[in-house]
Amino acid sequence: MEFYVTAAPGTERVLVDELRDLGFRSARLNSGGIPFMGELRDGWKACLHTRIGQRVMLVLGRFPAENLDQIYLRAKTLPWELYLTPEQTFACAAYAHPSTGENPDFVALRLKDAIVDQQRDRFNGARSGVSREDPDVRAFVYWGRGKATFYLDLSGDPLFKRGYRVAGGEAPIKETLAAAILRLADWDGKAPLLDPMCGSGTFLVEGALWAANVAPGIFRPRFGFERWANFDSEAADTMRQLRGEARRNATGQLPKITGCDLDASVLELAAANAKSAGLAGKLALRTVPLREQRNDGVRRLVVTNPPYGVRLDAANQLYQELGAAVMRMHNCRVAILAGTPRCLSNIHVPPVAKFPLKNGAIDCQLTIYEIP
Ligand SMILES: C[S@@+](CC[C@H](N)C(=O)[O-])C[C@H]1O[C@@H](n2cnc3c(N)ncnc32)[C@H](O)[C@@H]1O
Repeated sequence: MEFYVTAAPGTERVLVDELRDLGFRSARLNSGGIPFMGELRDGWKACLHTRIGQRVMLVLGRFPAENLDQIYLRAKTLPWELYLTPEQTFACAAYAHPSTGENPDFVALRLKDAIVDQQRDRFNGARSGVSREDPDVRAFVYWGRGKATFYLDLSGDPLFKRGYRVAGGEAPIKETLAAAILRLADWDGKAPLLDPMCGSGTFLVEGALWAANVAPGIFRPRFGFERWANFDSEAADTMRQLRGEARRNATGQLPKITGCDLDASVLELAAANAKSAGLAGKLALRTVPLREQRNDGVRRLVVTNPPYGVRLDAANQLYQELGAAVMRMHNCRVAILAGTPRCLSNIHVPPVAKFPLKNGAIDCQLTIYEIP
C-alpha cells in the first residue's frame, strides 16, 4: 500500500529522515509530504511514531482526471465499502490546483456524491451520513495537472494534537513543528536543552518525549483508522501490541531540559502540559526574564520562538534583550523561529543555517547560530 505523510512547508527533509529512521526505507523526499510503501500496519505505526508528520494518508487510487465528472466517475470505482459502511459517517475534503479552475468545495462535493451513489447501489439505497465535526472516515482528493489522487486519512485529528496538551498559552507552536525544529537544529536528544521564552513548553515537552523515546501518539485515545469498517478485533489486537511495544521502548532518560519565561503563569501551563505527558517534575521551569538569562559554559541547544505582533516600542526593547541574551549563550547552538528578521538584528554572529518555515499561516525563518 502507498502512504503519504503530509508535512508543514520546509519540514519535508527532516520528515523523510525521521520516517527512514522509523524503518520506512522507501520514504522519499517530495515537496508537501513524504510517500512511502508498506502494509496497512505500517500506516498505523507511522501515526503512532511520527513526531513531524501532520497527517498519514492511505492512497486509494490515482487516475487521469480533466474535469469534475471524471473525478466523480473515478471515485465511484474505488472500494469505499472496505472502510465505510452506511451506518458510519464520513467527510470529504479536496485540494484543487488553481489550473483546474474549480472550487475545492465543489470537488469535495463530487467526491461525496460518488461515495454515496456507490453505497446506494451496493446497499439497497442505504448511505452514510456526512459529519463535518467528527466523521468516522475522512476521504480526500488531490487534483492537479490532469491527475486526481484519492486518499483516506488514517490520522483522524491532525497529529499535532498529541493528546497531552491541557492548555495553550500565548501562541503555542504546533507540536509537529516544534519536533521538526529540534531536528532541523540537529539536536541529538542528549545535549541539554533550554527554551528561554518557553510559554506553554512545547519545545521542552517534545524534546523530552523524543529524548526518552516516548512515542508521540501514545497519548491519543485513538486514531482515525481505528473507526474504519475494516478495523476488526484482530486489527485492534495488533494496535494494542504496537502501543505496548512503544510503551516498553520508552527509556525515561532525559538530558537537562530547562524552560524559562517572564510570565510565571505560563510556566504553570508548561508544568501542567509536562505532567500530562508523563513528565511531572522532569523539566526545570523557572521565571527568568531574558535580560537575566546566561549560560554556564555547558554546551546546550537553545531553542525558542519569540512573541509575534509585538508593538514597535516594546519590540525594540525585546529584540535588544534577545540579542544580548543570545550573545551570552557561550558555547551554545541557538535556534530561533522568528516571523521578522528585525527580531535577530541584535545578534552579532553570522548564522550557520537558515530554514524558511511556516508557523500556521505565518511565514517564518528558523535561524541557527553557534555562539563562540
Ligand atoms: C510565542 S510565545 C512562546 C510559545 C511557546 N513556544 C509555546 O509553544 O507555548 C513567547 C513567550 O515569550 C515570553 N516572553 C516575552 N518577553 C519575554 C522576556 N523578556 N523574557 C522571557 N520571556 C519573555 C512570553 O511570556 C511568551 O510566553
